[in-house]
Amino acid sequence: MGGLENKKRQLWIVANWKSNETIKEALEWIDWVGPKLEKRENLKVVVCPTFVALEEVKKAVLVGSYPILVGAQDLSPFDVGPYTGEEAAQLLQGLVDLVLIGHWERRHYFGEDDEMVSHKAQMAQKYGLIPLVCVQEPDARIPLGVNLIAYEPVFAIGSGHPDTPGNAAMVAEELKRRGGGNLAVLYGGSVNAKNVTSFLKQPKLSGLLIGQASLNPLEFLKIAQLSFKFLKN
Ligand code: PGA
Repeated sequence: MGGLENKKRQLWIVANWKSNETIKEALEWIDWVGPKLEKRENLKVVVCPTFVALEEVKKAVLVGSYPILVGAQDLSPFDVGPYTGEEAAQLLQGLVDLVLIGHWERRHYFGEDDEMVSHKAQMAQKYGLIPLVCVQEPDARIPLGVNLIAYEPVFAIGSGHPDTPGNAAMVAEELKRRGGGNLAVLYGGSVNAKNVTSFLKQPKLSGLLIGQASLNPLEFLKIAQLSFKFLKN
């Protein structure tokens, strides 16, 4: 387990646009940020647009050959079938690489519980999508087989008051202890270009989940560029 810390560090910078950005705005963002992003094997830049913008964003990324992965913000806990309004993992295959699961806003506004989160994580894995499961506490339930977690404390989401990097790293350590050596833990909650470095300095953190600050292409690009210097080649 200890040896993993010495492996080449892999970082994730994940933009969660939440319920924002028209298709036009999303494409402007991609076409502005995409060409300016350096391609780095151990840096995964992920953009999670709304479902309506997914297809256009995916096409723009492919056409521009941008080093951007596309993610969905949610998915159905069921397979394809009579589930009005739901997006099954099977239908997202080919369109997205990763899926956010159990974001606090899903849990808080839409009543998702750990059981639902586990079903969604299973569906993602069944269809080869990477589940990025969001949790709020160090003792949160980690669904079976999940290797990517975002710690996002409720008080820090959209508040302008992030957790301290030291505490985020302590929570990451505890989650890793409970979830096994392969677990990568990101931090989310009021991350911006000003504070990003303080989080990336923590070796226990494998990246960031960024909401508000990711909507501004200039700020997001700055965050991605600042993360380059934390990668060993
Ligand atoms: P925020 O959102 O960056 O706007 O605080 C973070 C999150 O939702 O995890």
